[in-house]
Amino acid sequence: MTTSLRRVFESQPDRRYIMFGGKGGLGKTTLSATSAFWLASQGKRVLLFSVDPQASLSDIFERDIFGRGPVPIMENLWAQEVDADRRIREYQDEIRKKILDMYGFDKVPEEIDNYIAAASAEPAMEESAIFDAVVDIIVQGDYDYYIYDLVPLGHALYYLSMAKVYDEWINKITRLREDMRQYDQVAATMRREETVAEDQILGELTYIKERINASSRILTDAKRTAFFFVVVPENMIILDTKKAAALFAKFDVPISGYVVNRVLPADLTRENLPPYLRNRIAMQERYLGEINAGFGNQVLAYVPEMERDITGLPMIERLARRLFDEV
Ligand SMILES: Nc1ncnc2c1ncn2[C@@H]1O[C@H](COP(=O)(O)OP(=O)(O)OP(=O)(O)O)[C@@H](O)[C@H]1O
Ligand SMILES: [Mg+2]
Repeated sequence: MTTSLRRVFESQPDRRYIMFGGKGGLGKTTLSATSAFWLASQGKRVLLFSVDPQASLSDIFERDIFGRGPVPIMENLWAQEVDADRRIREYQDEIRKKILDMYGFDKVPEEIDNYIAAASAEPAMEESAIFDAVVDIIVQGDYDYYIYDLVPLGHALYYLSMAKVYDEWINKITRLREDMRQYDQVAATMRREETVAEDQILGELTYIKERINASSRILTDAKRTAFFFVVVPENMIILDTKKAAALFAKFDVPISGYVVNRVLPADLTRENLPPYLRNRIAMQERYLGEINAGFGNQVLAYVPEMERDITGLPMIERLARRLFDEV
């Protein structure tokens, strides 16, 4: 058992934003929770959070956490599951309110409301609302570590291209503003005043852009952020991980290392094994060899396949011991 993951945390204390990326179901949530547990037990204040509507943190901690803000799990450890749908609705309401304030309507005109509803159904809007929630979490609070429990790889890549997505969304708002010029004129005539809204809106957009740039700087800054890839010893997963790593390089997201999960215990081989298991182990050995050839010294840990799912603190603690203690 290697303890390099521990060394990464200990030798790089400025890396306070931690993420585990990887394809679906490989163990991202498990490793996020296990690292959170270990860091908290080292006396660090840790927030483990997710924006995944699947509520996996509720599952792993066996508690209802969803949409409740940071919930204390144990000393120094909080977990938070953002209710993304609620964020999206809040977003829409905010936009409506701004339009009302800005144009002095008492009611959002139906066409504009339809427009807002349509724009909100856009993935870009959804992702922006979610990204915004993430930005809120990482710019607020006084935790030593923020561990972001990511959704599967494809989506995670999408987040990483978020700055671009956000740009599109902002362009859309700008276009909405153009569309509303006609209302501007009507409203101004009715109120007999010049509109001063232009600067206000531009100010808002600039503010949003700056926030995004600041947080995408954090997420791509190897000094402050550790991004680990979870891989398992299986052929397709290894191939996909290599492709994903290339994509991440394209987005300038530095990969801090690989964690190999679900490694069958080595002592199994000593026993009198049925052929099925013997084959599985031989296959796994071959793929471990491939992982070693492909990722080599970037592998930080080999995590054993436990005899049951990792749920509940005692199980997380057991895995943390296997993962972080010198054994
Ligand atoms: N080393 C392990 N030993 C035993 N079970 C494991 C191990 N790692 C993960 N699991 C189990 O595998 C399942 C999937 O793990 P997990 O939820 O952490 O994956 P994920 O990558 O977060 O999935 P998703 O992509 O859906 O978010 C869970 O039931 C978890 O308990
Ligand atoms: Mg998960």
